[in-house]
Amino acid sequence: MAGHSTFEPQNPVIRWIDSRLPIFGLVHSSFIVFPNPRNLNYWWTFGGILAFMLVAQIVTGVVLVMHYTPHTSLAFNSVEHIMRDVNYGWMIRYLHANGASMFFIAVYVHIFRGLYYGSYKAPREVLWILGMIIYLLMMATGFMGYVLPWGQMSFWGATVITSLFSAIPLVGEPVTTWLWGGFAVDNPTLNRFFSLHYLLPFMIAGVVVLHVWALHVPGSNNPTGVSVKAKQDTLPFHPYFTVKDALGLVLFLMFYMWFVFYLPNYLGHPDNYTPADPLVTPAHIVPEWYYLPFYAILRSIPSKLGGVIAMFGAIGVLFLVPWLDTSKVRSAAYRPLYRQFFWILVLVSIGLGYLGSRPAEGGYVIASRILTLYYFAHFLVILPLLGLFERPKPQPASITEAVLGKGGAPVTAGAPAAPQTKG
Ligand code: HEM
Repeated sequence: MAGHSTFEPQNPVIRWIDSRLPIFGLVHSSFIVFPNPRNLNYWWTFGGILAFMLVAQIVTGVVLVMHYTPHTSLAFNSVEHIMRDVNYGWMIRYLHANGASMFFIAVYVHIFRGLYYGSYKAPREVLWILGMIIYLLMMATGFMGYVLPWGQMSFWGATVITSLFSAIPLVGEPVTTWLWGGFAVDNPTLNRFFSLHYLLPFMIAGVVVLHVWALHVPGSNNPTGVSVKAKQDTLPFHPYFTVKDALGLVLFLMFYMWFVFYLPNYLGHPDNYTPADPLVTPAHIVPEWYYLPFYAILRSIPSKLGGVIAMFGAIGVLFLVPWLDTSKVRSAAYRPLYRQFFWILVLVSIGLGYLGSRPAEGGYVIASRILTLYYFAHFLVILPLLGLFERPKPQPASITEAVLGKGGAPVTAGAPAAPQTKG
């Protein structure tokens, strides 16, 4: 769809460059004239918000690194130095720490939007898989970043999570020692986590390029799930979606800044303001909020290996969604049963998140087991069966019909809907 470019630059310098490296033409065809379904709603602004957040995390991270020291005896103090002595260091750090949470809020909205509107279905399977790879990389990046301030939660979180690898049969112990670079989480671990925490966002940026490329082959899905059939179903990306994306981003930034300036430590854990001490275990070791549902799944299984398999399996099933969902209809708007199961899944995921924050005992564990079972049943049983038994509602013949109704006058992109009369 990106295909043919109508780009003819007026500026001779741009024309000179573009005839040798058609980069301006590429931007023009992909982000200026690119035809987008005319009915995209605000849930479609989150891809752009994510792109913004990735850049924000890289920029604030690079500045933090100018004052941070990745050594067990200096890391904690170097972060305190950033907070107290470096000009606006507190702001850069709060932007980065809260930015990570905002990035995950945006990615969860983005993923659930995809699940609701069936955006993972053919021909967008590769786009979806690339998204899941980004999500995995984000989880690894966030985990390693949390270790860097070398507070109590940094150290103990890293110890709990890396120790999971020791559950692998036969090679578990050597693999864990290899990951640590020693016999416990220590300076070599902190150093390699720092190195990888710096590297991974650039890898994410690379996969995002592939993600957007894969998006531009079929173009965006839309709230009806009905494919684009004619030019009148679309509008050019600029100004329609640049403006819409900008408004979505500004609202999102207000929410983000509210945390940065009014609740900067709300999403963190107070124990991480105590320097790491391998001899004192915190009362409750909890990961950051965005890992909590998976943490609950991990702890719901009595065996360590079983827990690890369930946790990775919970992410693994998401990769398979394009093939587990057998329905011919994309959007939940026309799938009355799926829509209800979708919302149950949202509640179950939030419930698992809550349970992940509670101690692994008594009723909490039982509830985690029930919700874990439901989580897997949603993907492995409900999704495949629904496609066979559900009676979808009639879909509109086209996107234009969904927007303007059956008698809607056909319009060309950017033109007024009805002929203009003078006077
Ligand atoms: C750094 C993280 C990410 C960035 C920057 C990003 C960027 C984008 C952008 C710009 C779009 C087009 C606008 C939109 O539809 O919102 C998009 C679409 C999409 N993304 Fe992502 N994405 C990211 C992560 C993910 C993840 C984790 C998934 C989950 C598997 C995912 C799945 C999708 C899908 C399925 C679409 C197509 C939606 C549609 O056309 O209905 N993305 N992404």
